[in-house]
Formats: sequence, C-alpha cells, structure tokens
Amino acid sequence: MFLKHRTLVLVFTAVSFSTLLLTFRDPGAYLLRYAAARLFPRGPCGCRRCVAALRDDAWFSQRFNQSVQPLMTRENSVLTEDTFTWWQWLQAERHPASYPLVVDQLFQLIPDQDRYQDAGPDRCRTCSVVGNSGNLKGSGYGALIDSRDLVIRMNKAPTRGFQDDVGTRTTHHVMYPESAVDLDNDTSLVLVPFKTLDLQWLVSALTNGTIQRTYLPVKSKVQANREKVLVYSPTFFKYVHESWLEGRGRYPSTGFLSLMLALHICDEVSVFGFGSDQYGNWHHYWETNVLSGAFRLTGVHDGDMESNVTLLLEDRDKIQMFRGQRDTGGQGQDPDVQGTT
Ligand SMILES: *[C@@H]1O[C@H](CO)[C@@H](O)[C@H](O)[C@H]1NC(C)=O
Ligand SMILES: *[C@@H]1O[C@H](CO)[C@@H](O)[C@H](O)[C@H]1NC(C)=O
Ligand SMILES: *[C@@H]1O[C@H](CO)[C@@H](O)[C@H](O)[C@H]1NC(C)=O
Ligand SMILES: *[C@@H]1O[C@H](CO)[C@@H](O)[C@H](O)[C@H]1NC(C)=O
Repeated sequence: MFLKHRTLVLVFTAVSFSTLLLTFRDPGAYLLRYAAARLFPRGPCGCRRCVAALRDDAWFSQRFNQSVQPLMTRENSVLTEDTFTWWQWLQAERHPASYPLVVDQLFQLIPDQDRYQDAGPDRCRTCSVVGNSGNLKGSGYGALIDSRDLVIRMNKAPTRGFQDDVGTRTTHHVMYPESAVDLDNDTSLVLVPFKTLDLQWLVSALTNGTIQRTYLPVKSKVQANREKVLVYSPTFFKYVHESWLEGRGRYPSTGFLSLMLALHICDEVSVFGFGSDQYGNWHHYWETNVLSGAFRLTGVHDGDMESNVTLLLEDRDKIQMFRGQRDTGGQGQDPDVQGTT
C-alpha cells in the first residue's frame, strides 16, 4: 500500500513536470525567437549576404528593380509598343512574323512558368556565372564553380577537357541562335532572343529543324530538354540596357545579360571568367591563339560601361569576382559576343 502510494506520487510528479515543460517550452522558444528577430532581423534572403538587400545603397536601389521578371511567360510576353520597337531594332528584322502567334506556338512547346519568383527570408540560392575568358585557364576553380546551386554558362562554353578550371555542372546555358550548342538533359537552355525569328528558331530547333539560317547559318536542331527551356524576356533585356547601362552601347553583351539574370534569380552571385587574362589578352579559355586587345572593341557593346558597373557591384558586395591568375582590374564584358550585326 505504501509502495503503491509512492509510485502514484512519482507518476503524478512526472506528469506534472512534463506538463509544465510542455507548457513552457513553446513560450520559451517563442520568446527566444522574438528576441533573436529583434536582435538579428531577417534579411530578404536566407544567405549571409543577399543581393536584394537594398539597405541605404542609393546607387544599387536606383538600378535594381526586382519586379521586372527576367524570364518570359505568356503573361509578361505582351510587350509595350516602346519595348517592342526597341527590341525589333536590335537586329533590324525586315519582315518579322506575327510576334503574338510565335509566342503562342512557343508556349505550346515549352513550360509557361517562372520558377524563380520565390525570393524570401528562407531562400538561399547561390550561383556561379561563368564567362568564357582565358583567365580561367589554370585557375583551378572547377570545384568552386560546381559548388553553387546554379551554374550559368554562355554561348560556346565547353566543359569537357577543362573540368579542373571551369567545372562540370551547367544548370543554365545562355545562348542565341547564332551561338547555340547542344545541351544535356539536366541543363536549361536560356534563349536570348534579339528578334521574332529567334523565337521561331527555338520552336524549329526543338522540333523539325526547318530554320537553318538567320543572318548567319545556324544550327537547325538543338539538343535540349524542352521541359527546361527558358526565354530571356525582351522587357528585362531593355531594363538591363536602360537601368544598368544607361542606354550605352547598342545592347548588352551575353556576359552582362547573364550576370543580370543571376542578380535577379539568385541570392549570392559568384562571377568567374570575366575580363581579360593576366596579360591583358582577350580570348576564350578553350582557344590557344590569343587575340589582341582590339578584340573587345566590338562596336555593339559598351565594354567600358559594363566593366564599370560590374566593378561597382563588386565594390558594393553584391557579387564576388574570381579573376583567376589575374588579380588586378576586371572587365564585366564577355568577349564571346561577336557575330551579331
Ligand atoms: C519596376 O518595374 C515595375 C514593373 O516593370 C514598374 O512598374 C516600376 O515602375 C519599376 N519601378 C521603378 C522604381 O522603376
Ligand atoms: C530528359 O528529361 C525528360 C523530362 O524532364 C524526359 O522525359 C526524357 O526522357 C529525358 N531524356 C533523356 C534522354 O534522358
Ligand atoms: C515544321 O513545323 C512547323 C511548325 O510546327 C510547321 O509549320 C512546318 O510546316 C513544319 N515543316 C515541315 C517541313 O514539316
Ligand atoms: C569607367 O570608369 C573609368 C575609370 O573610373 C572612367 O574613366 C570611364 O569614363 C568609365 N566609363 C564609363 C563608360 O562610364
């Protein structure tokens, strides 16, 4: 009887104690969280640094507009007259097909969704933007490049044979018809369209391959996972040109366009393979012949302006630049932008 009583008391005590714990655990944690939130307010993203943190950076916040969507959807494909005129002027198409009809055809083939409008305090998306500069040669950046969530490459960029310096993963490959390459199934083709014909080319290249020429002969078919194809929005294209480059140059280079895409869909941006090599030469990392400095004076892009803006982004801690063996200066221009009218 005595024993039984003691057991009961023990059980009772245990039950009360755990009830107490249960009652107070949550409010305690709540208080802690509250204090933490006051002491360390959450940023616009879950990374240590966030691109979208505007703080009191007037230069950045005057340029950065997160509500301009970088990728085309059916909805945002409708262009203002201004934007359409500007965009058609880029490569002066003589007899363009009906833009709405072509867009409609396109979205019957590729998904109509913007996968990246998910910024918030819980997201930490890290990205590598990999230009094609010769400064990647001997850099040993491969593992670092591959360690980011997204790896964005552009134009002809090969990885096979250059893994140690450029890595192996490609989640996004930015190209236009004249610079197209085949991709593997895990990579998103990101088309930068300069004209209505480029959108038609995409449809054709993913299906029956009837378009074989724009102003240059182009790949008639391209290997790419249709479910992952994305299209750079003409509205965003114009925003990059006007808001970031102040309208300088005819239009931005693929390198700069890719950097701006990253800035808008990523929380932390690491930049590789931009600029000349350590000797000031401009060439691609896969080429052995080195071209002279004249190479970067392409006429259509303002390399100076792009480079200045890129450096300012670095100064303001918005991007991290990796310059390979070259440790001074740095140009934001991707040299792989020739072959445009
Ligand atoms: C940002 O872009 C949106 C959508 O294009 C536009 O309505 C808005 O005026 C822009 N904001 C600024 C500050 O330019
Ligand atoms: C590529 O991925 C798609 C779906 O994302 C799948 O239907 C297709 O079979 C894959 N193709 C290859 C060659 O793995
Ligand atoms: C190729 O596909 C396009 C669009 O679906 C179609 O208009 C065209 O007739 C096709 N061409 C050939 C040769 O099949
Ligand atoms: C870029 O910066 C350099 C050095 O500050 C300056 O001389 C040049 O005018 C700038 N170029 C443009 C296009 O802003």
